[in-house]
Amino acid sequence: MDQAKFIAMVGGDGEFSYQRMGVLQAHAGRRLEPLMAETVKHMSLPEQGPLHIADFGCSTGRNSISYMNFIVKCITDRYVEAGENNGHVTCVPEMLVSFNELPGNDFNTLSQLLASEAKDAKDLAPSINGADVGRASSYFSAMVGGSFYNRLLPKESIHFAISIFCLHWMSQIPATVTDMSSPLYNEGRSWILGGNPTIAREFAQQSMLDLDNFLDSRAAEMVPGGIVFASFVSRHDAANPENQVNPECRPRFSLGPDFESAWNDLIDDGVITTETRDTFNLPLYARSKEEVEAAIIKCGAFDIQYLQSPVDANLCPEDELTVA
Ligand SMILES: C[S@@+](CC[C@H](N)C(=O)[O-])C[C@H]1O[C@@H](n2cnc3c(N)ncnc32)[C@H](O)[C@@H]1O
Repeated sequence: MDQAKFIAMVGGDGEFSYQRMGVLQAHAGRRLEPLMAETVKHMSLPEQGPLHIADFGCSTGRNSISYMNFIVKCITDRYVEAGENNGHVTCVPEMLVSFNELPGNDFNTLSQLLASEAKDAKDLAPSINGADVGRASSYFSAMVGGSFYNRLLPKESIHFAISIFCLHWMSQIPATVTDMSSPLYNEGRSWILGGNPTIAREFAQQSMLDLDNFLDSRAAEMVPGGIVFASFVSRHDAANPENQVNPECRPRFSLGPDFESAWNDLIDDGVITTETRDTFNLPLYARSKEEVEAAIIKCGAFDIQYLQSPVDANLCPEDELTVA
């Protein structure tokens, strides 16, 4: 089934909305700030605007706006610093931020958050030599509905792209694993964690195709010298895709056994049939660092400045993989 038709984070700001539940991601995003700041230092600054930044997979926006504010602030600081060093008038180009999500996303919540950010920025923005700088939200914004596994923005238009906590989502579940007549039918399970290695390899194949599409699409959209900064869930064991999570971390990984036992409770209570459970599979795949590196080399459009898995960083292996 096509992911674009069924995935959407819960909108609004109710109890179970992404606005309130995206705390883990917000925390992970904050830990990435020093690396984002460092990455901005490697960016070549255009003399004229618009300078275009894009977030691929922004959800309903609270975390995304915070990442974008931070990046805009880092870029602005670089222009101010460059102006001071050269004894020139600081001239910060106008910036455009594109917020991308799947079409089913609650873009209304994002739009309301952006409007209130813009109001705060207008009230507080200091002015340096006539240019509105120093306030992180001094940018124009656009919302782009569509899958980031396709082309979404004009050729050679993006200077800095990010995608935080998204690229482990697959574009679709391989048809073979939900087909009852297939030898690869994922019977009795709703994911690949600790399951059949052959079925896990089907997920791996789809996921690698997705990553190729993401990289090829961004390669077309980035300006020469543009930067892609991505962080997503990865796994520690390059060889065995069914080992999606390091065994010591499994007990606190909610998408694994807990999820399957919730489905099983629904079957026991007669709410759903086993077939319903078996036709659902989580569209998630945690790539290894080696798989990501191979995809970037295969794409051929990017140099790797930084590629770190949590194993290197001595973090819990179900944590995110960061690439710039
Ligand atoms: C866990 S949320 C992360 C949101 C945000 N980046 C953050 O850090 O809070 C993952 C988001 O990726 C989006 N997503 C998944 N696949 C996508 C695709 N193919 N194209 C665009 N967005 C996608 C989901 O809809 C979801 O909102």
